[in-house]
Amino acid sequence: MGQMRGSDFLQIVSDQAPPRGRTRWLADRLRAAIAGGTVPVGTRLPATRVLAAELSLARGTIAASYQLLIDEGLLATNQGGGTTVAAAPVASEVRTPSPDVEGEPDLLDISSGLPDLSAFPRAAWLRAERLVLATATSRELGYVDPQGEPRLRAALAGWLARSRGVTVSPDSVIVTAGVAGALSLLSQVLRDRGVTGCAIEDPGADGTRRVLEYWMDTISPIPVDGEGLNVDRLAASGERAVLVTPAHQFPTGVVLSPQRRRALHAWAEDVDGLIIEDDYDSEYRYDRAPVRALQAAAPDRIVHVSSLSKVLAPALRLGWMIAPSHLRQDLVRKRWATDLGSPALPQLVLAELIESGALERQLRSLRLRHRERRDAAVRALAEHLPGCGIAGIAAGLHLVVSLPDGVDDAEISARARDLGIGVQPLSRHRFEPGPPGLVIAYGSHPIPRLEQAIATLGTLVP
Ligand SMILES: Cc1ncc(COP(=O)(O)O)c(C=O)c1O
Repeated sequence: MGQMRGSDFLQIVSDQAPPRGRTRWLADRLRAAIAGGTVPVGTRLPATRVLAAELSLARGTIAASYQLLIDEGLLATNQGGGTTVAAAPVASEVRTPSPDVEGEPDLLDISSGLPDLSAFPRAAWLRAERLVLATATSRELGYVDPQGEPRLRAALAGWLARSRGVTVSPDSVIVTAGVAGALSLLSQVLRDRGVTGCAIEDPGADGTRRVLEYWMDTISPIPVDGEGLNVDRLAASGERAVLVTPAHQFPTGVVLSPQRRRALHAWAEDVDGLIIEDDYDSEYRYDRAPVRALQAAAPDRIVHVSSLSKVLAPALRLGWMIAPSHLRQDLVRKRWATDLGSPALPQLVLAELIESGALERQLRSLRLRHRERRDAAVRALAEHLPGCGIAGIAAGLHLVVSLPDGVDDAEISARARDLGIGVQPLSRHRFEPGPPGLVIAYGSHPIPRLEQAIATLGTLVP
């Protein structure tokens, strides 16, 4: 298959390009051209320099569009640096998915920290699933290991060691139904051992708190300050288990300081306690490399939990737990007795995505996209809520805006809902009363929608 001449095959001219979002626009055109057969598999695409000149677009825009399609598996680079069409999308992949999160119709919901679900790598997932189905042995379609598919545990062990500095062997990985599944399993095993209470951060995530409240008899809120969890207050609580979000505290965004990390380890040794490290969104660090996980410093005292919910999609209900050896057997037995373990096929697909590098590529592209959205949210806040402090922007998928003293954040949230905006008041994540604020999740909406939501909030804050 020869090389395409310039932009002929796209049948587009540059003045059709929208002023913003040109990378996606061009990628959509290319994807449609590949799907329609105008650009068949095997075609060599024009060099970015050539196409940039013909379309009067920046070379970086062309390169970024090519990269998007490389990430989707439709294009591939060859050894000489050229780009060729590697696969045609199936019909369902051509449809541009709705950019908005499903939910209440007419509600522009910036209340939960979802990743950009419109960027879910549908083509890469389908390709991996096809490969898995083509190569799975009959045995792999039988009953699964309740601890998780060995291939996935090995892939996760390598990935977590590389990306999070976790001390891990495939044996120490337990595949779970998300963080919620890990917490539920762990709570039950702790109860069997007589630990019926758990300390949590205040403010802290109300979702994980509710799971622990379901299983435990006591929940002890421990204040969080600019260095993270107050370990003296934890020691005074008498609890022997604590749930923390050290890399990016939810919701404040604070990173647990080195002193507090050491104090937390010392606390666990003193009380023969257990630290549950919820590493939910640590892959998104925008100013420097992600903060390393706590777990490596005390693998016998720390259970490290995380999931695909912030990386791919919560609907997959796939997560993992790195558990100390003294808990492992009980955890796996409990999982076996509960439901015999997680479904095998999605586990094998995830293993394939990790092994092929597709998951890391997806993360790299999401990091850029989420960062752009964060920057847009910060700009819109400066314009529409000037004077309100903003915290927690260095990482994750959400930020916190502080509201003027005396403002009732729950009331602002209720009034926002009347205007079609879903936003969480900071008070929802607090046990003890504290300064008012709003938790703004910026990951899941395109920039104009985000700006629209923040502009509306601006009309509500005095
Ligand atoms: C603090 C925190 N931990 C964990 C999760 C993910 O939970 P799951 O893996 O059960 O979807 C979330 C989701 O929003 C969260 O906010």
